[in-house]
Amino acid sequence: MALNDAAKLLGQARHVVVFTGAGISAESGVPTFRDALTGLWSRFDAQSLATPQAFQEDPELVWGWYEWRRQLVQRVRPNHGHLAVARLGAHVPQLTVITQNVDDLHERAGSESPVHLHGSLFAPRCATCSRPAPLGERETETGTDEGRRIPPPRCAHCGGQVRPGVVWFGEQLPESALEAAARAASECDVLLTVGTSGLVYPAAEIPRLAARSGASVIQVNPQPTPLDPIATVNLPGPAAEILPALVSAAWA
Ligand code: OAD
Repeated sequence: MALNDAAKLLGQARHVVVFTGAGISAESGVPTFRDALTGLWSRFDAQSLATPQAFQEDPELVWGWYEWRRQLVQRVRPNHGHLAVARLGAHVPQLTVITQNVDDLHERAGSESPVHLHGSLFAPRCATCSRPAPLGERETETGTDEGRRIPPPRCAHCGGQVRPGVVWFGEQLPESALEAAARAASECDVLLTVGTSGLVYPAAEIPRLAARSGASVIQVNPQPTPLDPIATVNLPGPAAEILPALVSAAWA
């Protein structure tokens, strides 16, 4: 049975990498990007919201959209999938959590220092001098509307516009995060990929690098993905169900 095969691989591993995408947060209520009806990119135009040009042309639209997403994340909770990933840390000798997500649900579930390949909704910085900028209000009762324009704050040091601390299309990934992810992927013996379409590069290279370096790849995703051919074991299904079952099976 696939679950038992995967549990055995995990139970014998010394270094496990968990590589996550938007699907792991879906059951917390955070929309994914590419799911046909519910994904953000089916309702919103990425070019007008998630590129440096978009921020230059319409900073209020872009800042408002990221404020909407940040406030949405603040109102939801980590699910059993995030919690199972955190629990893995207590069992395997070495665990590296690498996420493409800009939410903070791994941290709030108890995973220490996940590698954020695509930045964070909670780390705004000045678009001019790059200094970190303080976050606005953390708690709002109703949250911001998804289409509301909000002027970005001004940097306290240079007066430049503050931008979301996320990676936009056409931008480089943070060098230290990419290096840490590549190192872990090439050294691990099991990579568990969860809830990612595996379509966005260079992040999608991480599970492929692990496979090339000899690691076993376990995939958790209800849909087929381009990573299917490199998966040693495929566990089709939702992360919040499969991950707790997997951890329980590995350390029964
Ligand atoms: P996608 O939206 O491309 O893919 C989400 C994946 O999660 C799909 O393969 C779904 O089948 C799967 N999924 C949905 N519900 C799930 C569940 N309950 N449990 C497990 N899997 C589930 O999201 P990402 O792969 O994360 O980039 O997208 C990669 C990058 O594209 C994002 O980081 C973002 C986006 O544009 C930036 O913002 C730079």
